Amino acid sequence: QHTTPLTGKKVVVTAGGTRERIDPVRFITNDSSGKMGYAIAEEMQDKGADVTLISAPTKLEAPTGVNLVPVLTTEDLAEAVTKFFKQADILVMAAAVADFKPLNSADQKIKKSADNDQMTLQLTKTVDILKQVAKIKQPNQITVGFAAETQNLLDNAQQKLVGKQLDLLIANDVSKPGVGFNGDTNQVTILQPGQAPIKTKLADKHIIAKQVVDQISQLVQKEG
Ligand code: PMT
Repeated sequence: QHTTPLTGKKVVVTAGGTRERIDPVRFITNDSSGKMGYAIAEEMQDKGADVTLISAPTKLEAPTGVNLVPVLTTEDLAEAVTKFFKQADILVMAAAVADFKPLNSADQKIKKSADNDQMTLQLTKTVDILKQVAKIKQPNQITVGFAAETQNLLDNAQQKLVGKQLDLLIANDVSKPGVGFNGDTNQVTILQPGQAPIKTKLADKHIIAKQVVDQISQLVQKEG
């Protein structure tokens, strides 16, 4: 097999939507299917990388040869990412991470009764995994984030690129048909510090994954 800039690189990819428990039978999650992250893991693997896929629940099968690490909550994901990132060359955070979780998770199923026509669920902020990672990031490590936005795509994405100290940010406007959560296609704008944004066409997530991995590969070559 011929070598690529990613051959032997230790890559951590996250995928899927985290789950935050309300009670034993209910949780908060989002529309992430894991398809985008799994396609990136597969493409990385094809390019010869040594891939760890940290996955929140999905219906997908992990690509063969990839080291699958299943997680449920944002806290689990944060713990696994921190652990595997220490030995990694590249981190790609495609997972859709809950920003808030229930302040208290009930031990027993919450019951409805005659006197609770309304109820309030108190939420508390979760940890920002990429911000945590930024604190331990070494100069030779590459971090790639995603931004799922429904408005002001470029401004919001640019803020995430800087705020999370990323080398690349993949922005998707998930308000557009065929873009972002759940479907087989995506359309992204790739941002890099000091570079003009690169806008892809709407295409199958495997094609988008190739374009993203290609950009990461170019970064590895530059920094190599
Ligand atoms: O899984 P699919 O159905 O294929 O859908 C793909 C996708 C829409 C999930 C994917 O393309 C995507 O946009 N993933 C990121 C979703 C998200 O959480 O975006 P965000 O803008 O809220 O977060 C920005 C970045 O910070 C992301 O890389 C996220 O992983 C990370 N994050 C977010 C919250 C948090 N507490 N910690 C984080 O590290």
